Amino acid sequence: MAADGHTRSPPAATSRIGPGTSSTGMRASGSRQRGPGADGDRLHRLQEAFLAHGGYQCGICTPGQILAAKALLEANPHPTRAEIQHWMMGNLCRCTGYYKIIDSIAAAAGVD
Ligand code: FES
Repeated sequence: MAADGHTRSPPAATSRIGPGTSSTGMRASGSRQRGPGADGDRLHRLQEAFLAHGGYQCGICTPGQILAAKALLEANPHPTRAEIQHWMMGNLCRCTGYYKIIDSIAAAAGVD
């Protein structure tokens, strides 16, 4: 409660990020928006793989994870899991524990 006796609310968020939505355009509800490399209304294969394999939770790190993974797949379309882990080691995530992220990238690359 403020000194004037009134309760204050935090200012309304004005970004595109809202409940259930990450800045990559992935929504928990299943509706989708454009993202990096997306073709029209379709998601990039990395975005699809992150959704299918649980490669994100809160979504804060997800844009960086996906862009780093996209750069990896452009440089090396079929990386091994060790190569994926090495490439992604600079991207921090507090939520997923990394295995789901690696699984997502491996799935997008079509490797085991
Ligand atoms: S999904 Fe939350 S920090 Fe990575």
